[in-house]
Amino acid sequence: MTSPVLEAIYKRRSIREFTDAPIFIEQLHEIVKAGMWAPSGMNNQPWRFVIIKDPGIKEELAQQTHYGHIIMSASALIAVYLSKEDMYDAVKDHQSAGACLQNMLLAAEALGLGAVWLGQILKNKAEVNRILGLADNFDLMAVVVLGHPLHHNQKSKRKELSELLLKQL
Ligand SMILES: Cc1cc2nc3c(=O)[nH]c(=O)nc-3n(C[C@H](O)[C@H](O)[C@H](O)COP(=O)(O)O)c2cc1C
Repeated sequence: MTSPVLEAIYKRRSIREFTDAPIFIEQLHEIVKAGMWAPSGMNNQPWRFVIIKDPGIKEELAQQTHYGHIIMSASALIAVYLSKEDMYDAVKDHQSAGACLQNMLLAAEALGLGAVWLGQILKNKAEVNRILGLADNFDLMAVVVLGHPLHHNQKSKRKELSELLLKQL
């Protein structure tokens, strides 16, 4: 089965090592746009984004996570937020944020870029908001770390379909 979408879904891997090559702002906007076009409950579009290329801010953010070395080697970051004022249902809004994030990872793949979804930094989300100058009505969902892949040797695996498929009625 081949289609560009299915290929991107299956080929995408989390990329944690990058070259020094820059990412253009247009590419970052394209990735945000892919996120924006995710589905959301009642089309409420609760997501908000912060694009970070500034080396000083990257360094400050790197100190907020065990995965700081990945941030430091990346060309850019996109912090993805939920705007609390725009939420209508916590579960559904968080699901929408997940869909948004996956769209962004697939867009990075489609652009030939590498990305990883950083969740561990959420343990310091208040500090991340302070660094980015955001009030606490913005709730950090993840930081997407972006760059040009240093290599494509990443391996990943999934459970067998038979293990996950509860029933086929
Ligand atoms: C909610 C969530 C949080 C994650 N947090 C991190 C993280 O903090 N650091 C990291 O290196 N990878 C993180 N990942 C990436 C996963 O480790 C990765 O997607 C998983 O191992 C499967 O590998 P693959 O993406 O290459 O298929 C996260 C992924 C998700 C969906």
